[in-house]
Amino acid sequence: MANTLERTRDVLGRVLRDGTAVASDGTVHDLFPVAISAAEGDSLRRWVQREDARNTIEVGLGYGVAALFVFEGLLARERSRAHHVAIDPNQGTRFANCGLQLFEEARVNNLVEFHGHESQLVLPRLLSEGRTFDFAFVDGNHRFEGVFLDLAFLGRLVRAGGIVFVDDYQLPAVARAASFFLSNLGWTLEQSSASDPSHHWAVLRTSTMPDTRPFDYYLDF
Ligand SMILES: C[S@@+](CC[C@H](N)C(=O)[O-])C[C@H]1O[C@@H](n2cnc3c(N)ncnc32)[C@H](O)[C@@H]1O
Repeated sequence: MANTLERTRDVLGRVLRDGTAVASDGTVHDLFPVAISAAEGDSLRRWVQREDARNTIEVGLGYGVAALFVFEGLLARERSRAHHVAIDPNQGTRFANCGLQLFEEARVNNLVEFHGHESQLVLPRLLSEGRTFDFAFVDGNHRFEGVFLDLAFLGRLVRAGGIVFVDDYQLPAVARAASFFLSNLGWTLEQSSASDPSHHWAVLRTSTMPDTRPFDYYLDF
C-alpha cells in the first residue's frame, strides 16, 4: 500500500505540474479547468482522511484528478481494503479513457470499480444491490435535476451522517439542489469554500436521524 500511495502521489504531482495528459490514442488533453484544482483536491483528500473512509464513490470521473486525491486519502492509512466506485458515461469518448489510464499508472486500477453509464442509472442499481459507501464526491451532470438525483440517491447510499462533497457549488443549479437536502432532510453544510471567486465547493453531511417527515412535509428551498 505504501508503494501505491507513493505512485499515486507521483502521478498526481505530474498531472498538476504538466496540466496535460496524453491518451493511449495519442490525443493530448488539457486537464484544467475541467479537472479539480490542487486546492480543492487538498480539501477532498483531507475530508476522506478525516472521515476515515475506505469505501468511496464518485460521480463524474473525467480526467481522474479528483479520484487520485481520493486515493491519496484512502491509502494514507494503508488501507488494504480501499475501494473506489467511479461513474462516467463519457470516459471512453470525450475523455479518451484518460482517467482510467491514470489509475493504471498509479497502479490503483485493481481498487477501482468503474461504471461507464449515467449516474441516474448506476446509482439506483447500486442501491438495489444493497451497496453502501463511507464518502461521496459529486462532479457529474451539473444541471439541477442531475445534481438533485445524484444527491437523492447518494443520501441513501452513503452511511448516515456521512459526507457528500459537491463540486461547482457556485452554480445556481448545484446550490439549489443542495438546498433541498439542507432545508428539508436535515443535512448540514460542513464547509463551503471558494478557492477563487468563480469556483466553490461544498461539503454536505447527511442526517443521522431517521426520516420521520409526514407525507405532506415541505419547506421551500
Ligand atoms: C468536470 S468533469 C469531472 C472532472 C473530474 N472531477 C476530475 O477531477 O478530473 C464532469 C464529468 O461528469 C461526467 N458526467 C456528465 N454527466 C454525467 C452523468 N449523468 N453521470 C455521471 N457522470 C456524468 C462527464 O462525462 C465529465 O467527465
